[in-house]
Amino acid sequence: MQIRQPVPEDHQRIVKVVKEWWGGRDLSSGVLKIFFYHFRETCFIAEDNGKLAGFLLGFLSQTYSDEGYIQLAGVHPEFREIGVGRSLYAEFFDVCRANSRSIVRSCTSPVNTLSIAFHASMGFSIEDGDDIVAEIPVTHNYLSEGQPKVLFMRKL
Ligand SMILES: CC(C)(COP(=O)(O)OP(=O)(O)OC[C@H]1O[C@@H](n2cnc3c(N)ncnc32)[C@H](O)[C@@H]1OP(=O)(O)O)[C@@H](O)C(=O)NCCC(=O)NCCS
Repeated sequence: MQIRQPVPEDHQRIVKVVKEWWGGRDLSSGVLKIFFYHFRETCFIAEDNGKLAGFLLGFLSQTYSDEGYIQLAGVHPEFREIGVGRSLYAEFFDVCRANSRSIVRSCTSPVNTLSIAFHASMGFSIEDGDDIVAEIPVTHNYLSEGQPKVLFMRKL
C-alpha cells in the first residue's frame, strides 16, 4: 500500500467511487476539485499497485490557527479493516503537528454508525451539540439546513 498526495487528475477517480463506497449515499459533491489544486499538502491517496484503495481530503483551518479539518475520507470496501483509514488519518495528524495544529475536527451524519465507530477508535470525542438522535449528540444546521451532524474532535 502506498500513500501519496493527490494531483488534479485524481479528482474524477475519487468522484466516481464515492457513491459505491458510501453504500449508495452520493457525497461526491463534497469532493471539490479545488482540494486537488490548492490543498494537496493535507490530502492523501492510498493505492495498492495503482488501484485506488482510499483517500482523505483535509485542510488546515484558516480561521482557527490551531485546527485541522477532515472533509471526507473513504476506503475501498475490499481494503477495509486492515488499517488503511488509520494510516490516512495518521498522515493528516502528522501534517497538522508539523503546522502546529493541536486539534483535528471532522463530522458525519448520525446514520453513519460505521464512521462514528471508526472515529471513536481513532481517538475522537463527540461534541455535545444541541440535540440527541439515536442516543448520539448531534448539531443541527452545521453544514446545511435540516441535516444534523455528529461533530468529532481530537486533540493531538
Ligand atoms: C470508515 C472507514 C474510512 C474506515 O476505514 P478502514 O480502513 O476500514 O479503517 P481501519 O482498518 O484503519 O480501522 C481503524 C479503526 O477503526 C475501527 N473500525 C474500522 N471499521 C470498523 C467497523 N466496521 N466497525 C467498528 N469499528 C471499525 C477499527 O476497529 C480500527 O480500530 P483499532 O485499530 O483500534 O482496531 C471505511 O469503513 C469507509 O470508507 N467507510 C465508508 C465511508 C465513510 O463512512 N467514511 C467516514 C469518514 S468521512
